[in-house]
This record gives sequence, C-alpha cells and structure tokens, in this order.
Amino acid sequence: MKELGIGVIGMGWMGEAHSNAYNNVRAKFSHLNVSPKLIICSEILEERAKEAKEKFGFLEYSCSWKDVVDNPQVDVVDITAPNSMHLEIIKYCIKKNKHISCEKPLGAFPDQSIEAYNLVKNYDKQTSVGYNYRYAPLVQYAKELIEDGSLGDLWYFKGRFFASYASDELGFYSWRFEKENGYGVLSDIMSHVVDMANYLMGGIKEVSADMDTFIKKRPSAPKGASHFGIGSKDDKMLDVTNDDFLSSLVKFDSGAKGHLDTSRVFQGPSCDMSFEVYGSKGSIKWDFEEMNTLHLYLKEDTKDSKATLGYKKIYSNPSHPYHANFNPADGTGLGYEDLKTIETANFLRKILNKEHKHFTDFSDAKNVGHVLNAMLKSIKSKSFEKVEGKK
Ligand SMILES: NC(=O)c1ccc[n+]([C@@H]2O[C@H](COP(=O)([O-])OP(=O)(O)OC[C@H]3O[C@@H](n4cnc5c(N)ncnc54)[C@H](O)[C@@H]3O)[C@@H](O)[C@H]2O)c1
Repeated sequence: MKELGIGVIGMGWMGEAHSNAYNNVRAKFSHLNVSPKLIICSEILEERAKEAKEKFGFLEYSCSWKDVVDNPQVDVVDITAPNSMHLEIIKYCIKKNKHISCEKPLGAFPDQSIEAYNLVKNYDKQTSVGYNYRYAPLVQYAKELIEDGSLGDLWYFKGRFFASYASDELGFYSWRFEKENGYGVLSDIMSHVVDMANYLMGGIKEVSADMDTFIKKRPSAPKGASHFGIGSKDDKMLDVTNDDFLSSLVKFDSGAKGHLDTSRVFQGPSCDMSFEVYGSKGSIKWDFEEMNTLHLYLKEDTKDSKATLGYKKIYSNPSHPYHANFNPADGTGLGYEDLKTIETANFLRKILNKEHKHFTDFSDAKNVGHVLNAMLKSIKSKSFEKVEGKK
C-alpha cells in the first residue's frame, strides 16, 4: 500500500469535498493500493480550519497556506482556495516540488490558467484540475457512444450550466462577484461547459460571445459567509463587477457547430449542467440535475417500425464506468461528491504511474483558458474570433 501525504488549502465547500474524496479513495478504489493520509489543512478562518481538522482527520491545521506546502510529510498539495490565490500557490508548490491538484478554472483569469500550464509543462510531478462532471458514469458512457461511432458524424453540441446560487438578488456578495478575483460565470461555470465540450467533441476553433450582469448590487456578507447565504435589503449593498450571464456560438475543429450558455441568476434551474449531442445516426441528452439518467436516441432503433419512436432512458448501472466502484446495483445512482472521489482516484493513479484513459490536468485548464480568452475577445469585437494556442 503506497502512502501519500495530503495537504489541502482553503476549507470552504471544495476543501471539504476534496478532503472527503481523499478519505473515500482508499475504500472505493482499493485496487489502486493507495492510502492518502491527510496531513495538514489550511484556512484563513481559524475556527473553520480547526473544525476541518477534526471532521476529516488531518494531523494539524494552520492559518498560513505556506505551512501546507512547506510540510515535508506533504506529497500532494490540493488547492481549493479562491481563484485569485491559485497561481501564487502553484508557483510555490513547484518550488517545493509537490504534486498539485487545483480547482478549476485554475487562476482568476484565463491567462493565468495558460501560465499555470506553461509552468508545469516540463515539471516532473503530476497535476489535476477539478473538471469533475466528466466523471459521471453516464458522461463516460456518452463519451464511449461518441467514440465508437454510435451517433455517427457529430453535427451539433448544446452545452449549458444554469446555476441558481446567485438567483436571489439578496444573495451574499462574495469573492465570486469581484472582477479583481476573476470573471463571473465565464471563470466559474463556463469553464465547466467548455471543458465538457472539448472532452466530448474534440476542441473548439472559433467562437462568438455575449455577456451581461443582471443583478448589479448585492448585500455585503459577514466574514467567512459563502455565496449561498442570503442577506437583507438593509445590508450595505456592493457593486457586482463581473458577469452573471454568458452565451456563445462555437465552431468545433471537426466542423460541428455548438451553442454554450451559462447563468448564475436565472429562476428555475438549480445545477443544470447539461449537454445534448446530435449526430448523423442519433443523439444523447444528459443533465447533472438527473445525473444518473442518459437519454439516447438511435435512428437504427426505428428502422423496422416507428411505433417506439423517441428517446430511450438509460439509468446508471454497473456496466457504466465507475458505477461499480460505488455500488453493485442497477439504477442506484452516484452523487456529486462521488465525482470528486473519481477525480481524486484518477489523479492518484497518475501519481502512481498507472495506465488510465481519463485524467483532467493543467493542460485541460489551458485548453479551456484559450477558448475563454477567445470569448472575451469576441465580446469586444462583436464578431467571431479564432481560438489561439491550438495544439
Ligand atoms: N469543481 C467544482 O464543481 C467546483 C465547485 C465549487 C467551487 N469550485 C472551485 O473551488 C474553489 C473554491 O471554491 P468554494 O466554492 O469552495 O469557495 P469557498 O468560498 O466556499 O471556499 C474558499 C475557502 O478558502 C478560504 N480562504 C480564503 N483565503 C485563504 C487563505 N489565504 N488561506 C487559506 N484559506 C483561505 C476561505 O475562507 C474559504 O473557506 C474555486 O476555485 C472554485 O472555482 C469548483
């Protein structure tokens, strides 16, 4: 059993999800023979740091993130702090020769994702980035259907992420709403949509985009409050300085067309991270809100009769990748944190040098960064722009 020392920086939502994932990997991916050991967590709020140490079983905590990277027992540094801190921490990790996992989008701005990738291009340690939605068993199955030609030639991709976390106009102002900490939905959730599009469709070459901010002021939050909290209209109101909405037409390298949409303020959708893929022989639809269901239409199925014309509903089961790591039964689905466990297992697999097809590392974040930069350019020029930095 290979033991790996883990340090986590930023113990908010993702810090907890990642710590939980390291604790789960040993049992859910026992064949990897890896035992992640939680050494130290860091959090600027001392109470939160102390609580995280107890909850997840870290040996120690610190309010200074450098203590995590400097700790000789730490092999892997996991960065779940706000986006504006990513690059500085990554640079320090490289100096100290650590494996690095960093949450998406990797830095506050697309140029920082590209810079982070360039810094590790020839680095002898491994990296990981948090594009977890790829790892849903039915997304993996969708990828197989695309790769084995079941859908035929790919014509159109519709991808979107409509999140509700900022749909209440009294939702707290947090680092997510400040331009100096990065873009809004462009960094936060369009990054996920672009990664999914790149993964399933094979790269974007041109884009045209538009963005807007619909809720222009939000109540200031008490120290440490997350963006899920709700304030009052009597609170001090702060200006939102980044984007609530972004929509983009895209052209893929393959010639396929696409439409990518994101919003954090719309009423109705909760975590509608979804896609539709249309090909010459069939189509698929998947939505994270029902992540254990895939809708599949194959023209072939109606060749003798149209009596059963329509989409087939497929439920996650052990024949789909990773499902059996969590449970042996048909239709007993996985949840969000399981995707983090899979992402973490794949990262550790890479550190252990084990062959595997699906990893998400800094090169994926760099590819996303180039597409996001082209979207920003298009918003200014009001025309289609080419994606630079293609391989
Ligand atoms: N992959 C996904 O599905 C997903 C989902 C949510 C967030 N994220 C990403 O995860 C990262 C964190 O997001 P979150 O939602 O967990 O945010 P969060 O605000 O809940 O957590 C960030 C934590 O970092 C702490 N922090 C701030 N400055 C610090 C410092 N100097 N040292 C140590 N800790 C510090 C904050 O106090 C907070 O507890 C972001 O990069 C975000 O884009 C990814």
